Order: sequence, then structure tokens, then C-alpha cells
Amino acid sequence: MREIPVQELQINPMTMIAREWMLVTAGNQERGYNTMTASWGHLGSIWGRPDGKWPGGLPTAVVYVRPQRYTKEFVDREELFTLSVLDESWRKALGYLGSHSGRDGDKVAAVGLTPVFDGGTTYFAEARLVLVCRKLYRAPLLESGFIDRDIVTYDYPEKDFHDMYVGEILKVLVAD
Ligand SMILES: Cc1cc2nc3c(=O)[nH]c(=O)nc-3n(C[C@H](O)[C@H](O)[C@H](O)COP(=O)(O)O)c2cc1C
Repeated sequence: MREIPVQELQINPMTMIAREWMLVTAGNQERGYNTMTASWGHLGSIWGRPDGKWPGGLPTAVVYVRPQRYTKEFVDREELFTLSVLDESWRKALGYLGSHSGRDGDKVAAVGLTPVFDGGTTYFAEARLVLVCRKLYRAPLLESGFIDRDIVTYDYPEKDFHDMYVGEILKVLVAD
């Protein structure tokens, strides 16, 4: 994989996240890691830096993780998380990683992905795109915040509201 500047990223985040899905991964070789499939998230910009490097706002990724996910323990514990996007040939693997918990076994080995341990975090060698993110903000989605109440009925019958995590995109890697 090679690193590119975030400004050179040519993607449609809406279709990429919703239709191709991504793996949200946190942890490392020393402390262990876990990953899960996600199809909800956002890419964009928010907040600034005193050095003025990002005058329009830092490049950021937002992910949403329900409380019962094992991956959440890793995202909460670690400073970094990664987003790995894989091509269509990995669809079945993504389905597996999105329907089995790392609590119950080594699901990465089960689907044949290769973890890359890099800079204190983990992503996958087979990914076509990787975003390495540094956590900036975490907040629970609150039931009281939903203006469209149908979302609560439809998406949260168990009231297991996601935590949202905003991460600064530190590194963008693309397949060679
Ligand atoms: C297509 C797809 C998209 C998903 N998107 C999310 C998501 O955005 N947030 C979330 O918390 N869970 C999402 N899930 C569910 C988790 O991936 C799933 O519960 C997974 O087994 C959790 O694994 P873990 O317990 O090892 O963390 C999604 C599952 C699939 C199949």
C-alpha cells in the first residue's frame, strides 16, 4: 500500500460506506485488536488547528458503534482506529465479520484477511483503501435528540443507541 495526501482521495463517501461497507478496527499486536463491518459513517471536515494547516477544518471520519460490539472496547481503549475498504471479492468476508463477534473466536483468521500492525494500530493488507484515524471526540446518540422519531422506532427497537466517534484522518493508504 502507498500513502497519498487526503486531498487526492477520489471517492463518493455515501456510496462507498453504505454499499461497499468498511471494517472498523482498533487495537494492535501487543494489546490485541478487533474489527467489525460498518455501513454507517461519514467523511468530512470539522474543527481547526492553531497551526492553520487545515483552514477549512480537519479531515475527519465519523463512525457509529453500538454498545454491545466487542470492537467498541478496543475503540474506547485505543487512541487510533482504522477504516479499511475492501473490494467486492471480500463481500462474504465482510458479511461474516459483521455477523460474528470477536468475543467468540478469531474471525479475521476465519475469513483469511491479513492484519497489518502499523504504528500502534491495525488494518488489513487486502484493503483497497485504509484511513488511519485519531480519536477526537466520542458521544452517545441520545434518544431525546431524534427529531425524526421513526428512526428510533425503526433503527433502535432495543434502544441500543450508538456511540459516535469523530476521528482525525491522519493517514490515507491505497492499494498499489
Ligand atoms: C453491512 C453491515 C453493516 C454494519 N454496520 C454497523 C455499524 O455501522 N455500526 C455497528 O455498531 N454495527 C454495525 N454492524 C454490525 C457489526 O458489524 C456486528 O455486530 C459485528 O458482529 C460486531 O462484531 P464484534 O462483536 O466483534 O465487534 C454492521 C453489520 C453489517 C453486516
